[in-house]
Amino acid sequence: MMRVLDPCCGGRMMWFDKNHPDVVYGDCRDLEMPLTDKSHGKADGMRTLRIEPDMVLDFRNLPFEDGQFRLVAFDPPHLIRAGKKSWLAAKYGKLGACWQDDLRAGFAECFRVLADDGVLIFKWSEVQIKLSEVLALTPHKPLFGNTSGKRMGTHWIVFMKPIAEASA
Ligand SMILES: C[S@@+](CC[C@H](N)C(=O)[O-])C[C@H]1O[C@@H](n2cnc3c(N)ncnc32)[C@H](O)[C@@H]1O
Repeated sequence: MMRVLDPCCGGRMMWFDKNHPDVVYGDCRDLEMPLTDKSHGKADGMRTLRIEPDMVLDFRNLPFEDGQFRLVAFDPPHLIRAGKKSWLAAKYGKLGACWQDDLRAGFAECFRVLADDGVLIFKWSEVQIKLSEVLALTPHKPLFGNTSGKRMGTHWIVFMKPIAEASA
């Protein structure tokens, strides 16, 4: 049974098992493209970016029923500014001008498809937009999160959907 949803899986880098049988891996992009990246010591500085979701979808309008998943891992793009040739933007995607509306809709959809008592893990890299600005886009309050973001920029935030709250 598919109990877990990753609605913006990208290259699945965060997953230990990139093809876990319990997980639906979704993304709005399905592509394979060469990227210039000299950070990994490759002589030619080229890597291939592969984003191959099980389903092409939009986290603002998820094609799933209410309460279908026990766990959702939400790791949306975090950059609003990036050069045209930025490999970070190619790899992680870029937010649009309406990013607040998009992330608000993304949170709402993640909570809609979560079962009561379901868990949402939200990942955010605080390089351009403050975590507090993004957390303000959902009425749900997180339970806890890591604090290493202060140094490293990446936050992992845990929410649990309240019982008998079908929407919000
Ligand atoms: C930060 S990356 C995810 C990285 C991923 N967690 C990993 O481990 O490699 C964000 C992803 O969100 C995708 N994305 C952007 N807007 C989206 C949308 N509206 N719906 C679904 N995916 C979206 C991008 O294509 C990008 O692959």
